[in-house]
Amino acid sequence: MLNKKIEDICNRQIEREGYSSNLYLAMAIWAETNGFSGVASWMYAQAGEENLHMLKFIKYVNERGGKAVIPAFTKPGSEYNSVEEIFREVLKHEEFVTSSINEIVSLTLAEKDFNTHNFLQWFVMEQVEEEASVRNILDKVRLVGKNNMYEFDRDIMSLRKPSGTAQPA
Ligand code: FEO
Repeated sequence: MLNKKIEDICNRQIEREGYSSNLYLAMAIWAETNGFSGVASWMYAQAGEENLHMLKFIKYVNERGGKAVIPAFTKPGSEYNSVEEIFREVLKHEEFVTSSINEIVSLTLAEKDFNTHNFLQWFVMEQVEEEASVRNILDKVRLVGKNNMYEFDRDIMSLRKPSGTAQPA
């Protein structure tokens, strides 16, 4: 049975994963309506992964005798100036999600909830991969500059980390 503190912080993470999904959908829409169909495909795929992350938390909370809550989500921004800007935002957001996961890990240790601690290890690994993947893309965007965005957009899907490479908890 989850204690209330762990249940609440897992519900906080449900909101953060759901918001991540919506944020990347908003970025996909910006990319799609600005001629970057490759970037849009990347963002739609990423939004789908974030939705799965939210589902993992929902199912875990319910399985452990808690109750998952679907909150109202903050509306993500919809206007960006460049592909580089959106990937800078993605990296900043993923760093925030990493720190959020780390906070839950810390709480599970303080509360001696080793089941939830074990469940979180998949997310710890996933965040390492997500941040590395986005840093790699950002390096490429900076290298190509404005002139070769066509080729970058055509090839970006090949820079995706294989989906769900972290081992399931
Ligand atoms: Fe689910 Fe990208 O963090």
